[in-house]
Amino acid sequence: MARSKSSQRWLQEHHADDYVRKSKQQALRSRAVYKLEEIDERDRLIRPDSCVVELGAAPGGWTEYVAARLGRNGFLLAVDILPMEPVEGATILQGDFTELEVLDQVKCAIGGRSVDLVLSDMAPNFTGQSAVDQPRSVYLAELALEMCDEVLSDSGVLLVKTFQGVGFEMLLAQMRKSFSSVKTRKPSASRSRSREVYILAKR
Ligand SMILES: C[S@@+](CC[C@H](N)C(=O)[O-])C[C@H]1O[C@@H](n2cnc3c(N)ncnc32)[C@H](O)[C@@H]1O
Repeated sequence: MARSKSSQRWLQEHHADDYVRKSKQQALRSRAVYKLEEIDERDRLIRPDSCVVELGAAPGGWTEYVAARLGRNGFLLAVDILPMEPVEGATILQGDFTELEVLDQVKCAIGGRSVDLVLSDMAPNFTGQSAVDQPRSVYLAELALEMCDEVLSDSGVLLVKTFQGVGFEMLLAQMRKSFSSVKTRKPSASRSRSREVYILAKR
């Protein structure tokens, strides 16, 4: 099947992208890692003993970044619907996070730990139709938020990817009910013409 103009443009931009080049040079699994790195450097999200749950982890750029920052007492659970290569220091769970039984598996894998940080970089498969893509993205962010109500500690932090558009303001309002501080972050590795934005929420 021929590529659409928008996917050709995306590929051209992707290959010309400095972050793509840098991630290849550094043998990183994805350019997405630079987004987390920038936010972490600014907001100090990860401590050596943090208990971290990461949603939407494949191919594992963020997972490698977090695992490298954790010490012996840290814990990292990485979840994705897609399979991913193992990362030393991370427990990997493959499953569709929209399914309740996967949430149960996450809770089971966490055991009795209290979670310090929930990261979600989940994004649906984009169709290019904003009426379809936008609600799906917001829904994934809502699921991450709902999980926080069950597993996040009283001083925990949520960093979740979403997209500006319909439902975004409502999501922010929902977050403000559960968190005392809710801010947005647009790291420089996030393409400026993308509506992608991260919400950083602290108890
Ligand atoms: C932008 S990628 C994540 C990139 C990752 N942070 C990295 O650094 O390599 C988004 C991921 O969300 C995952 N995802 C989308 N919907 C999901 C779902 N329902 N359950 C679990 N993972 C999902 C996709 O499979 C994809 O791997």
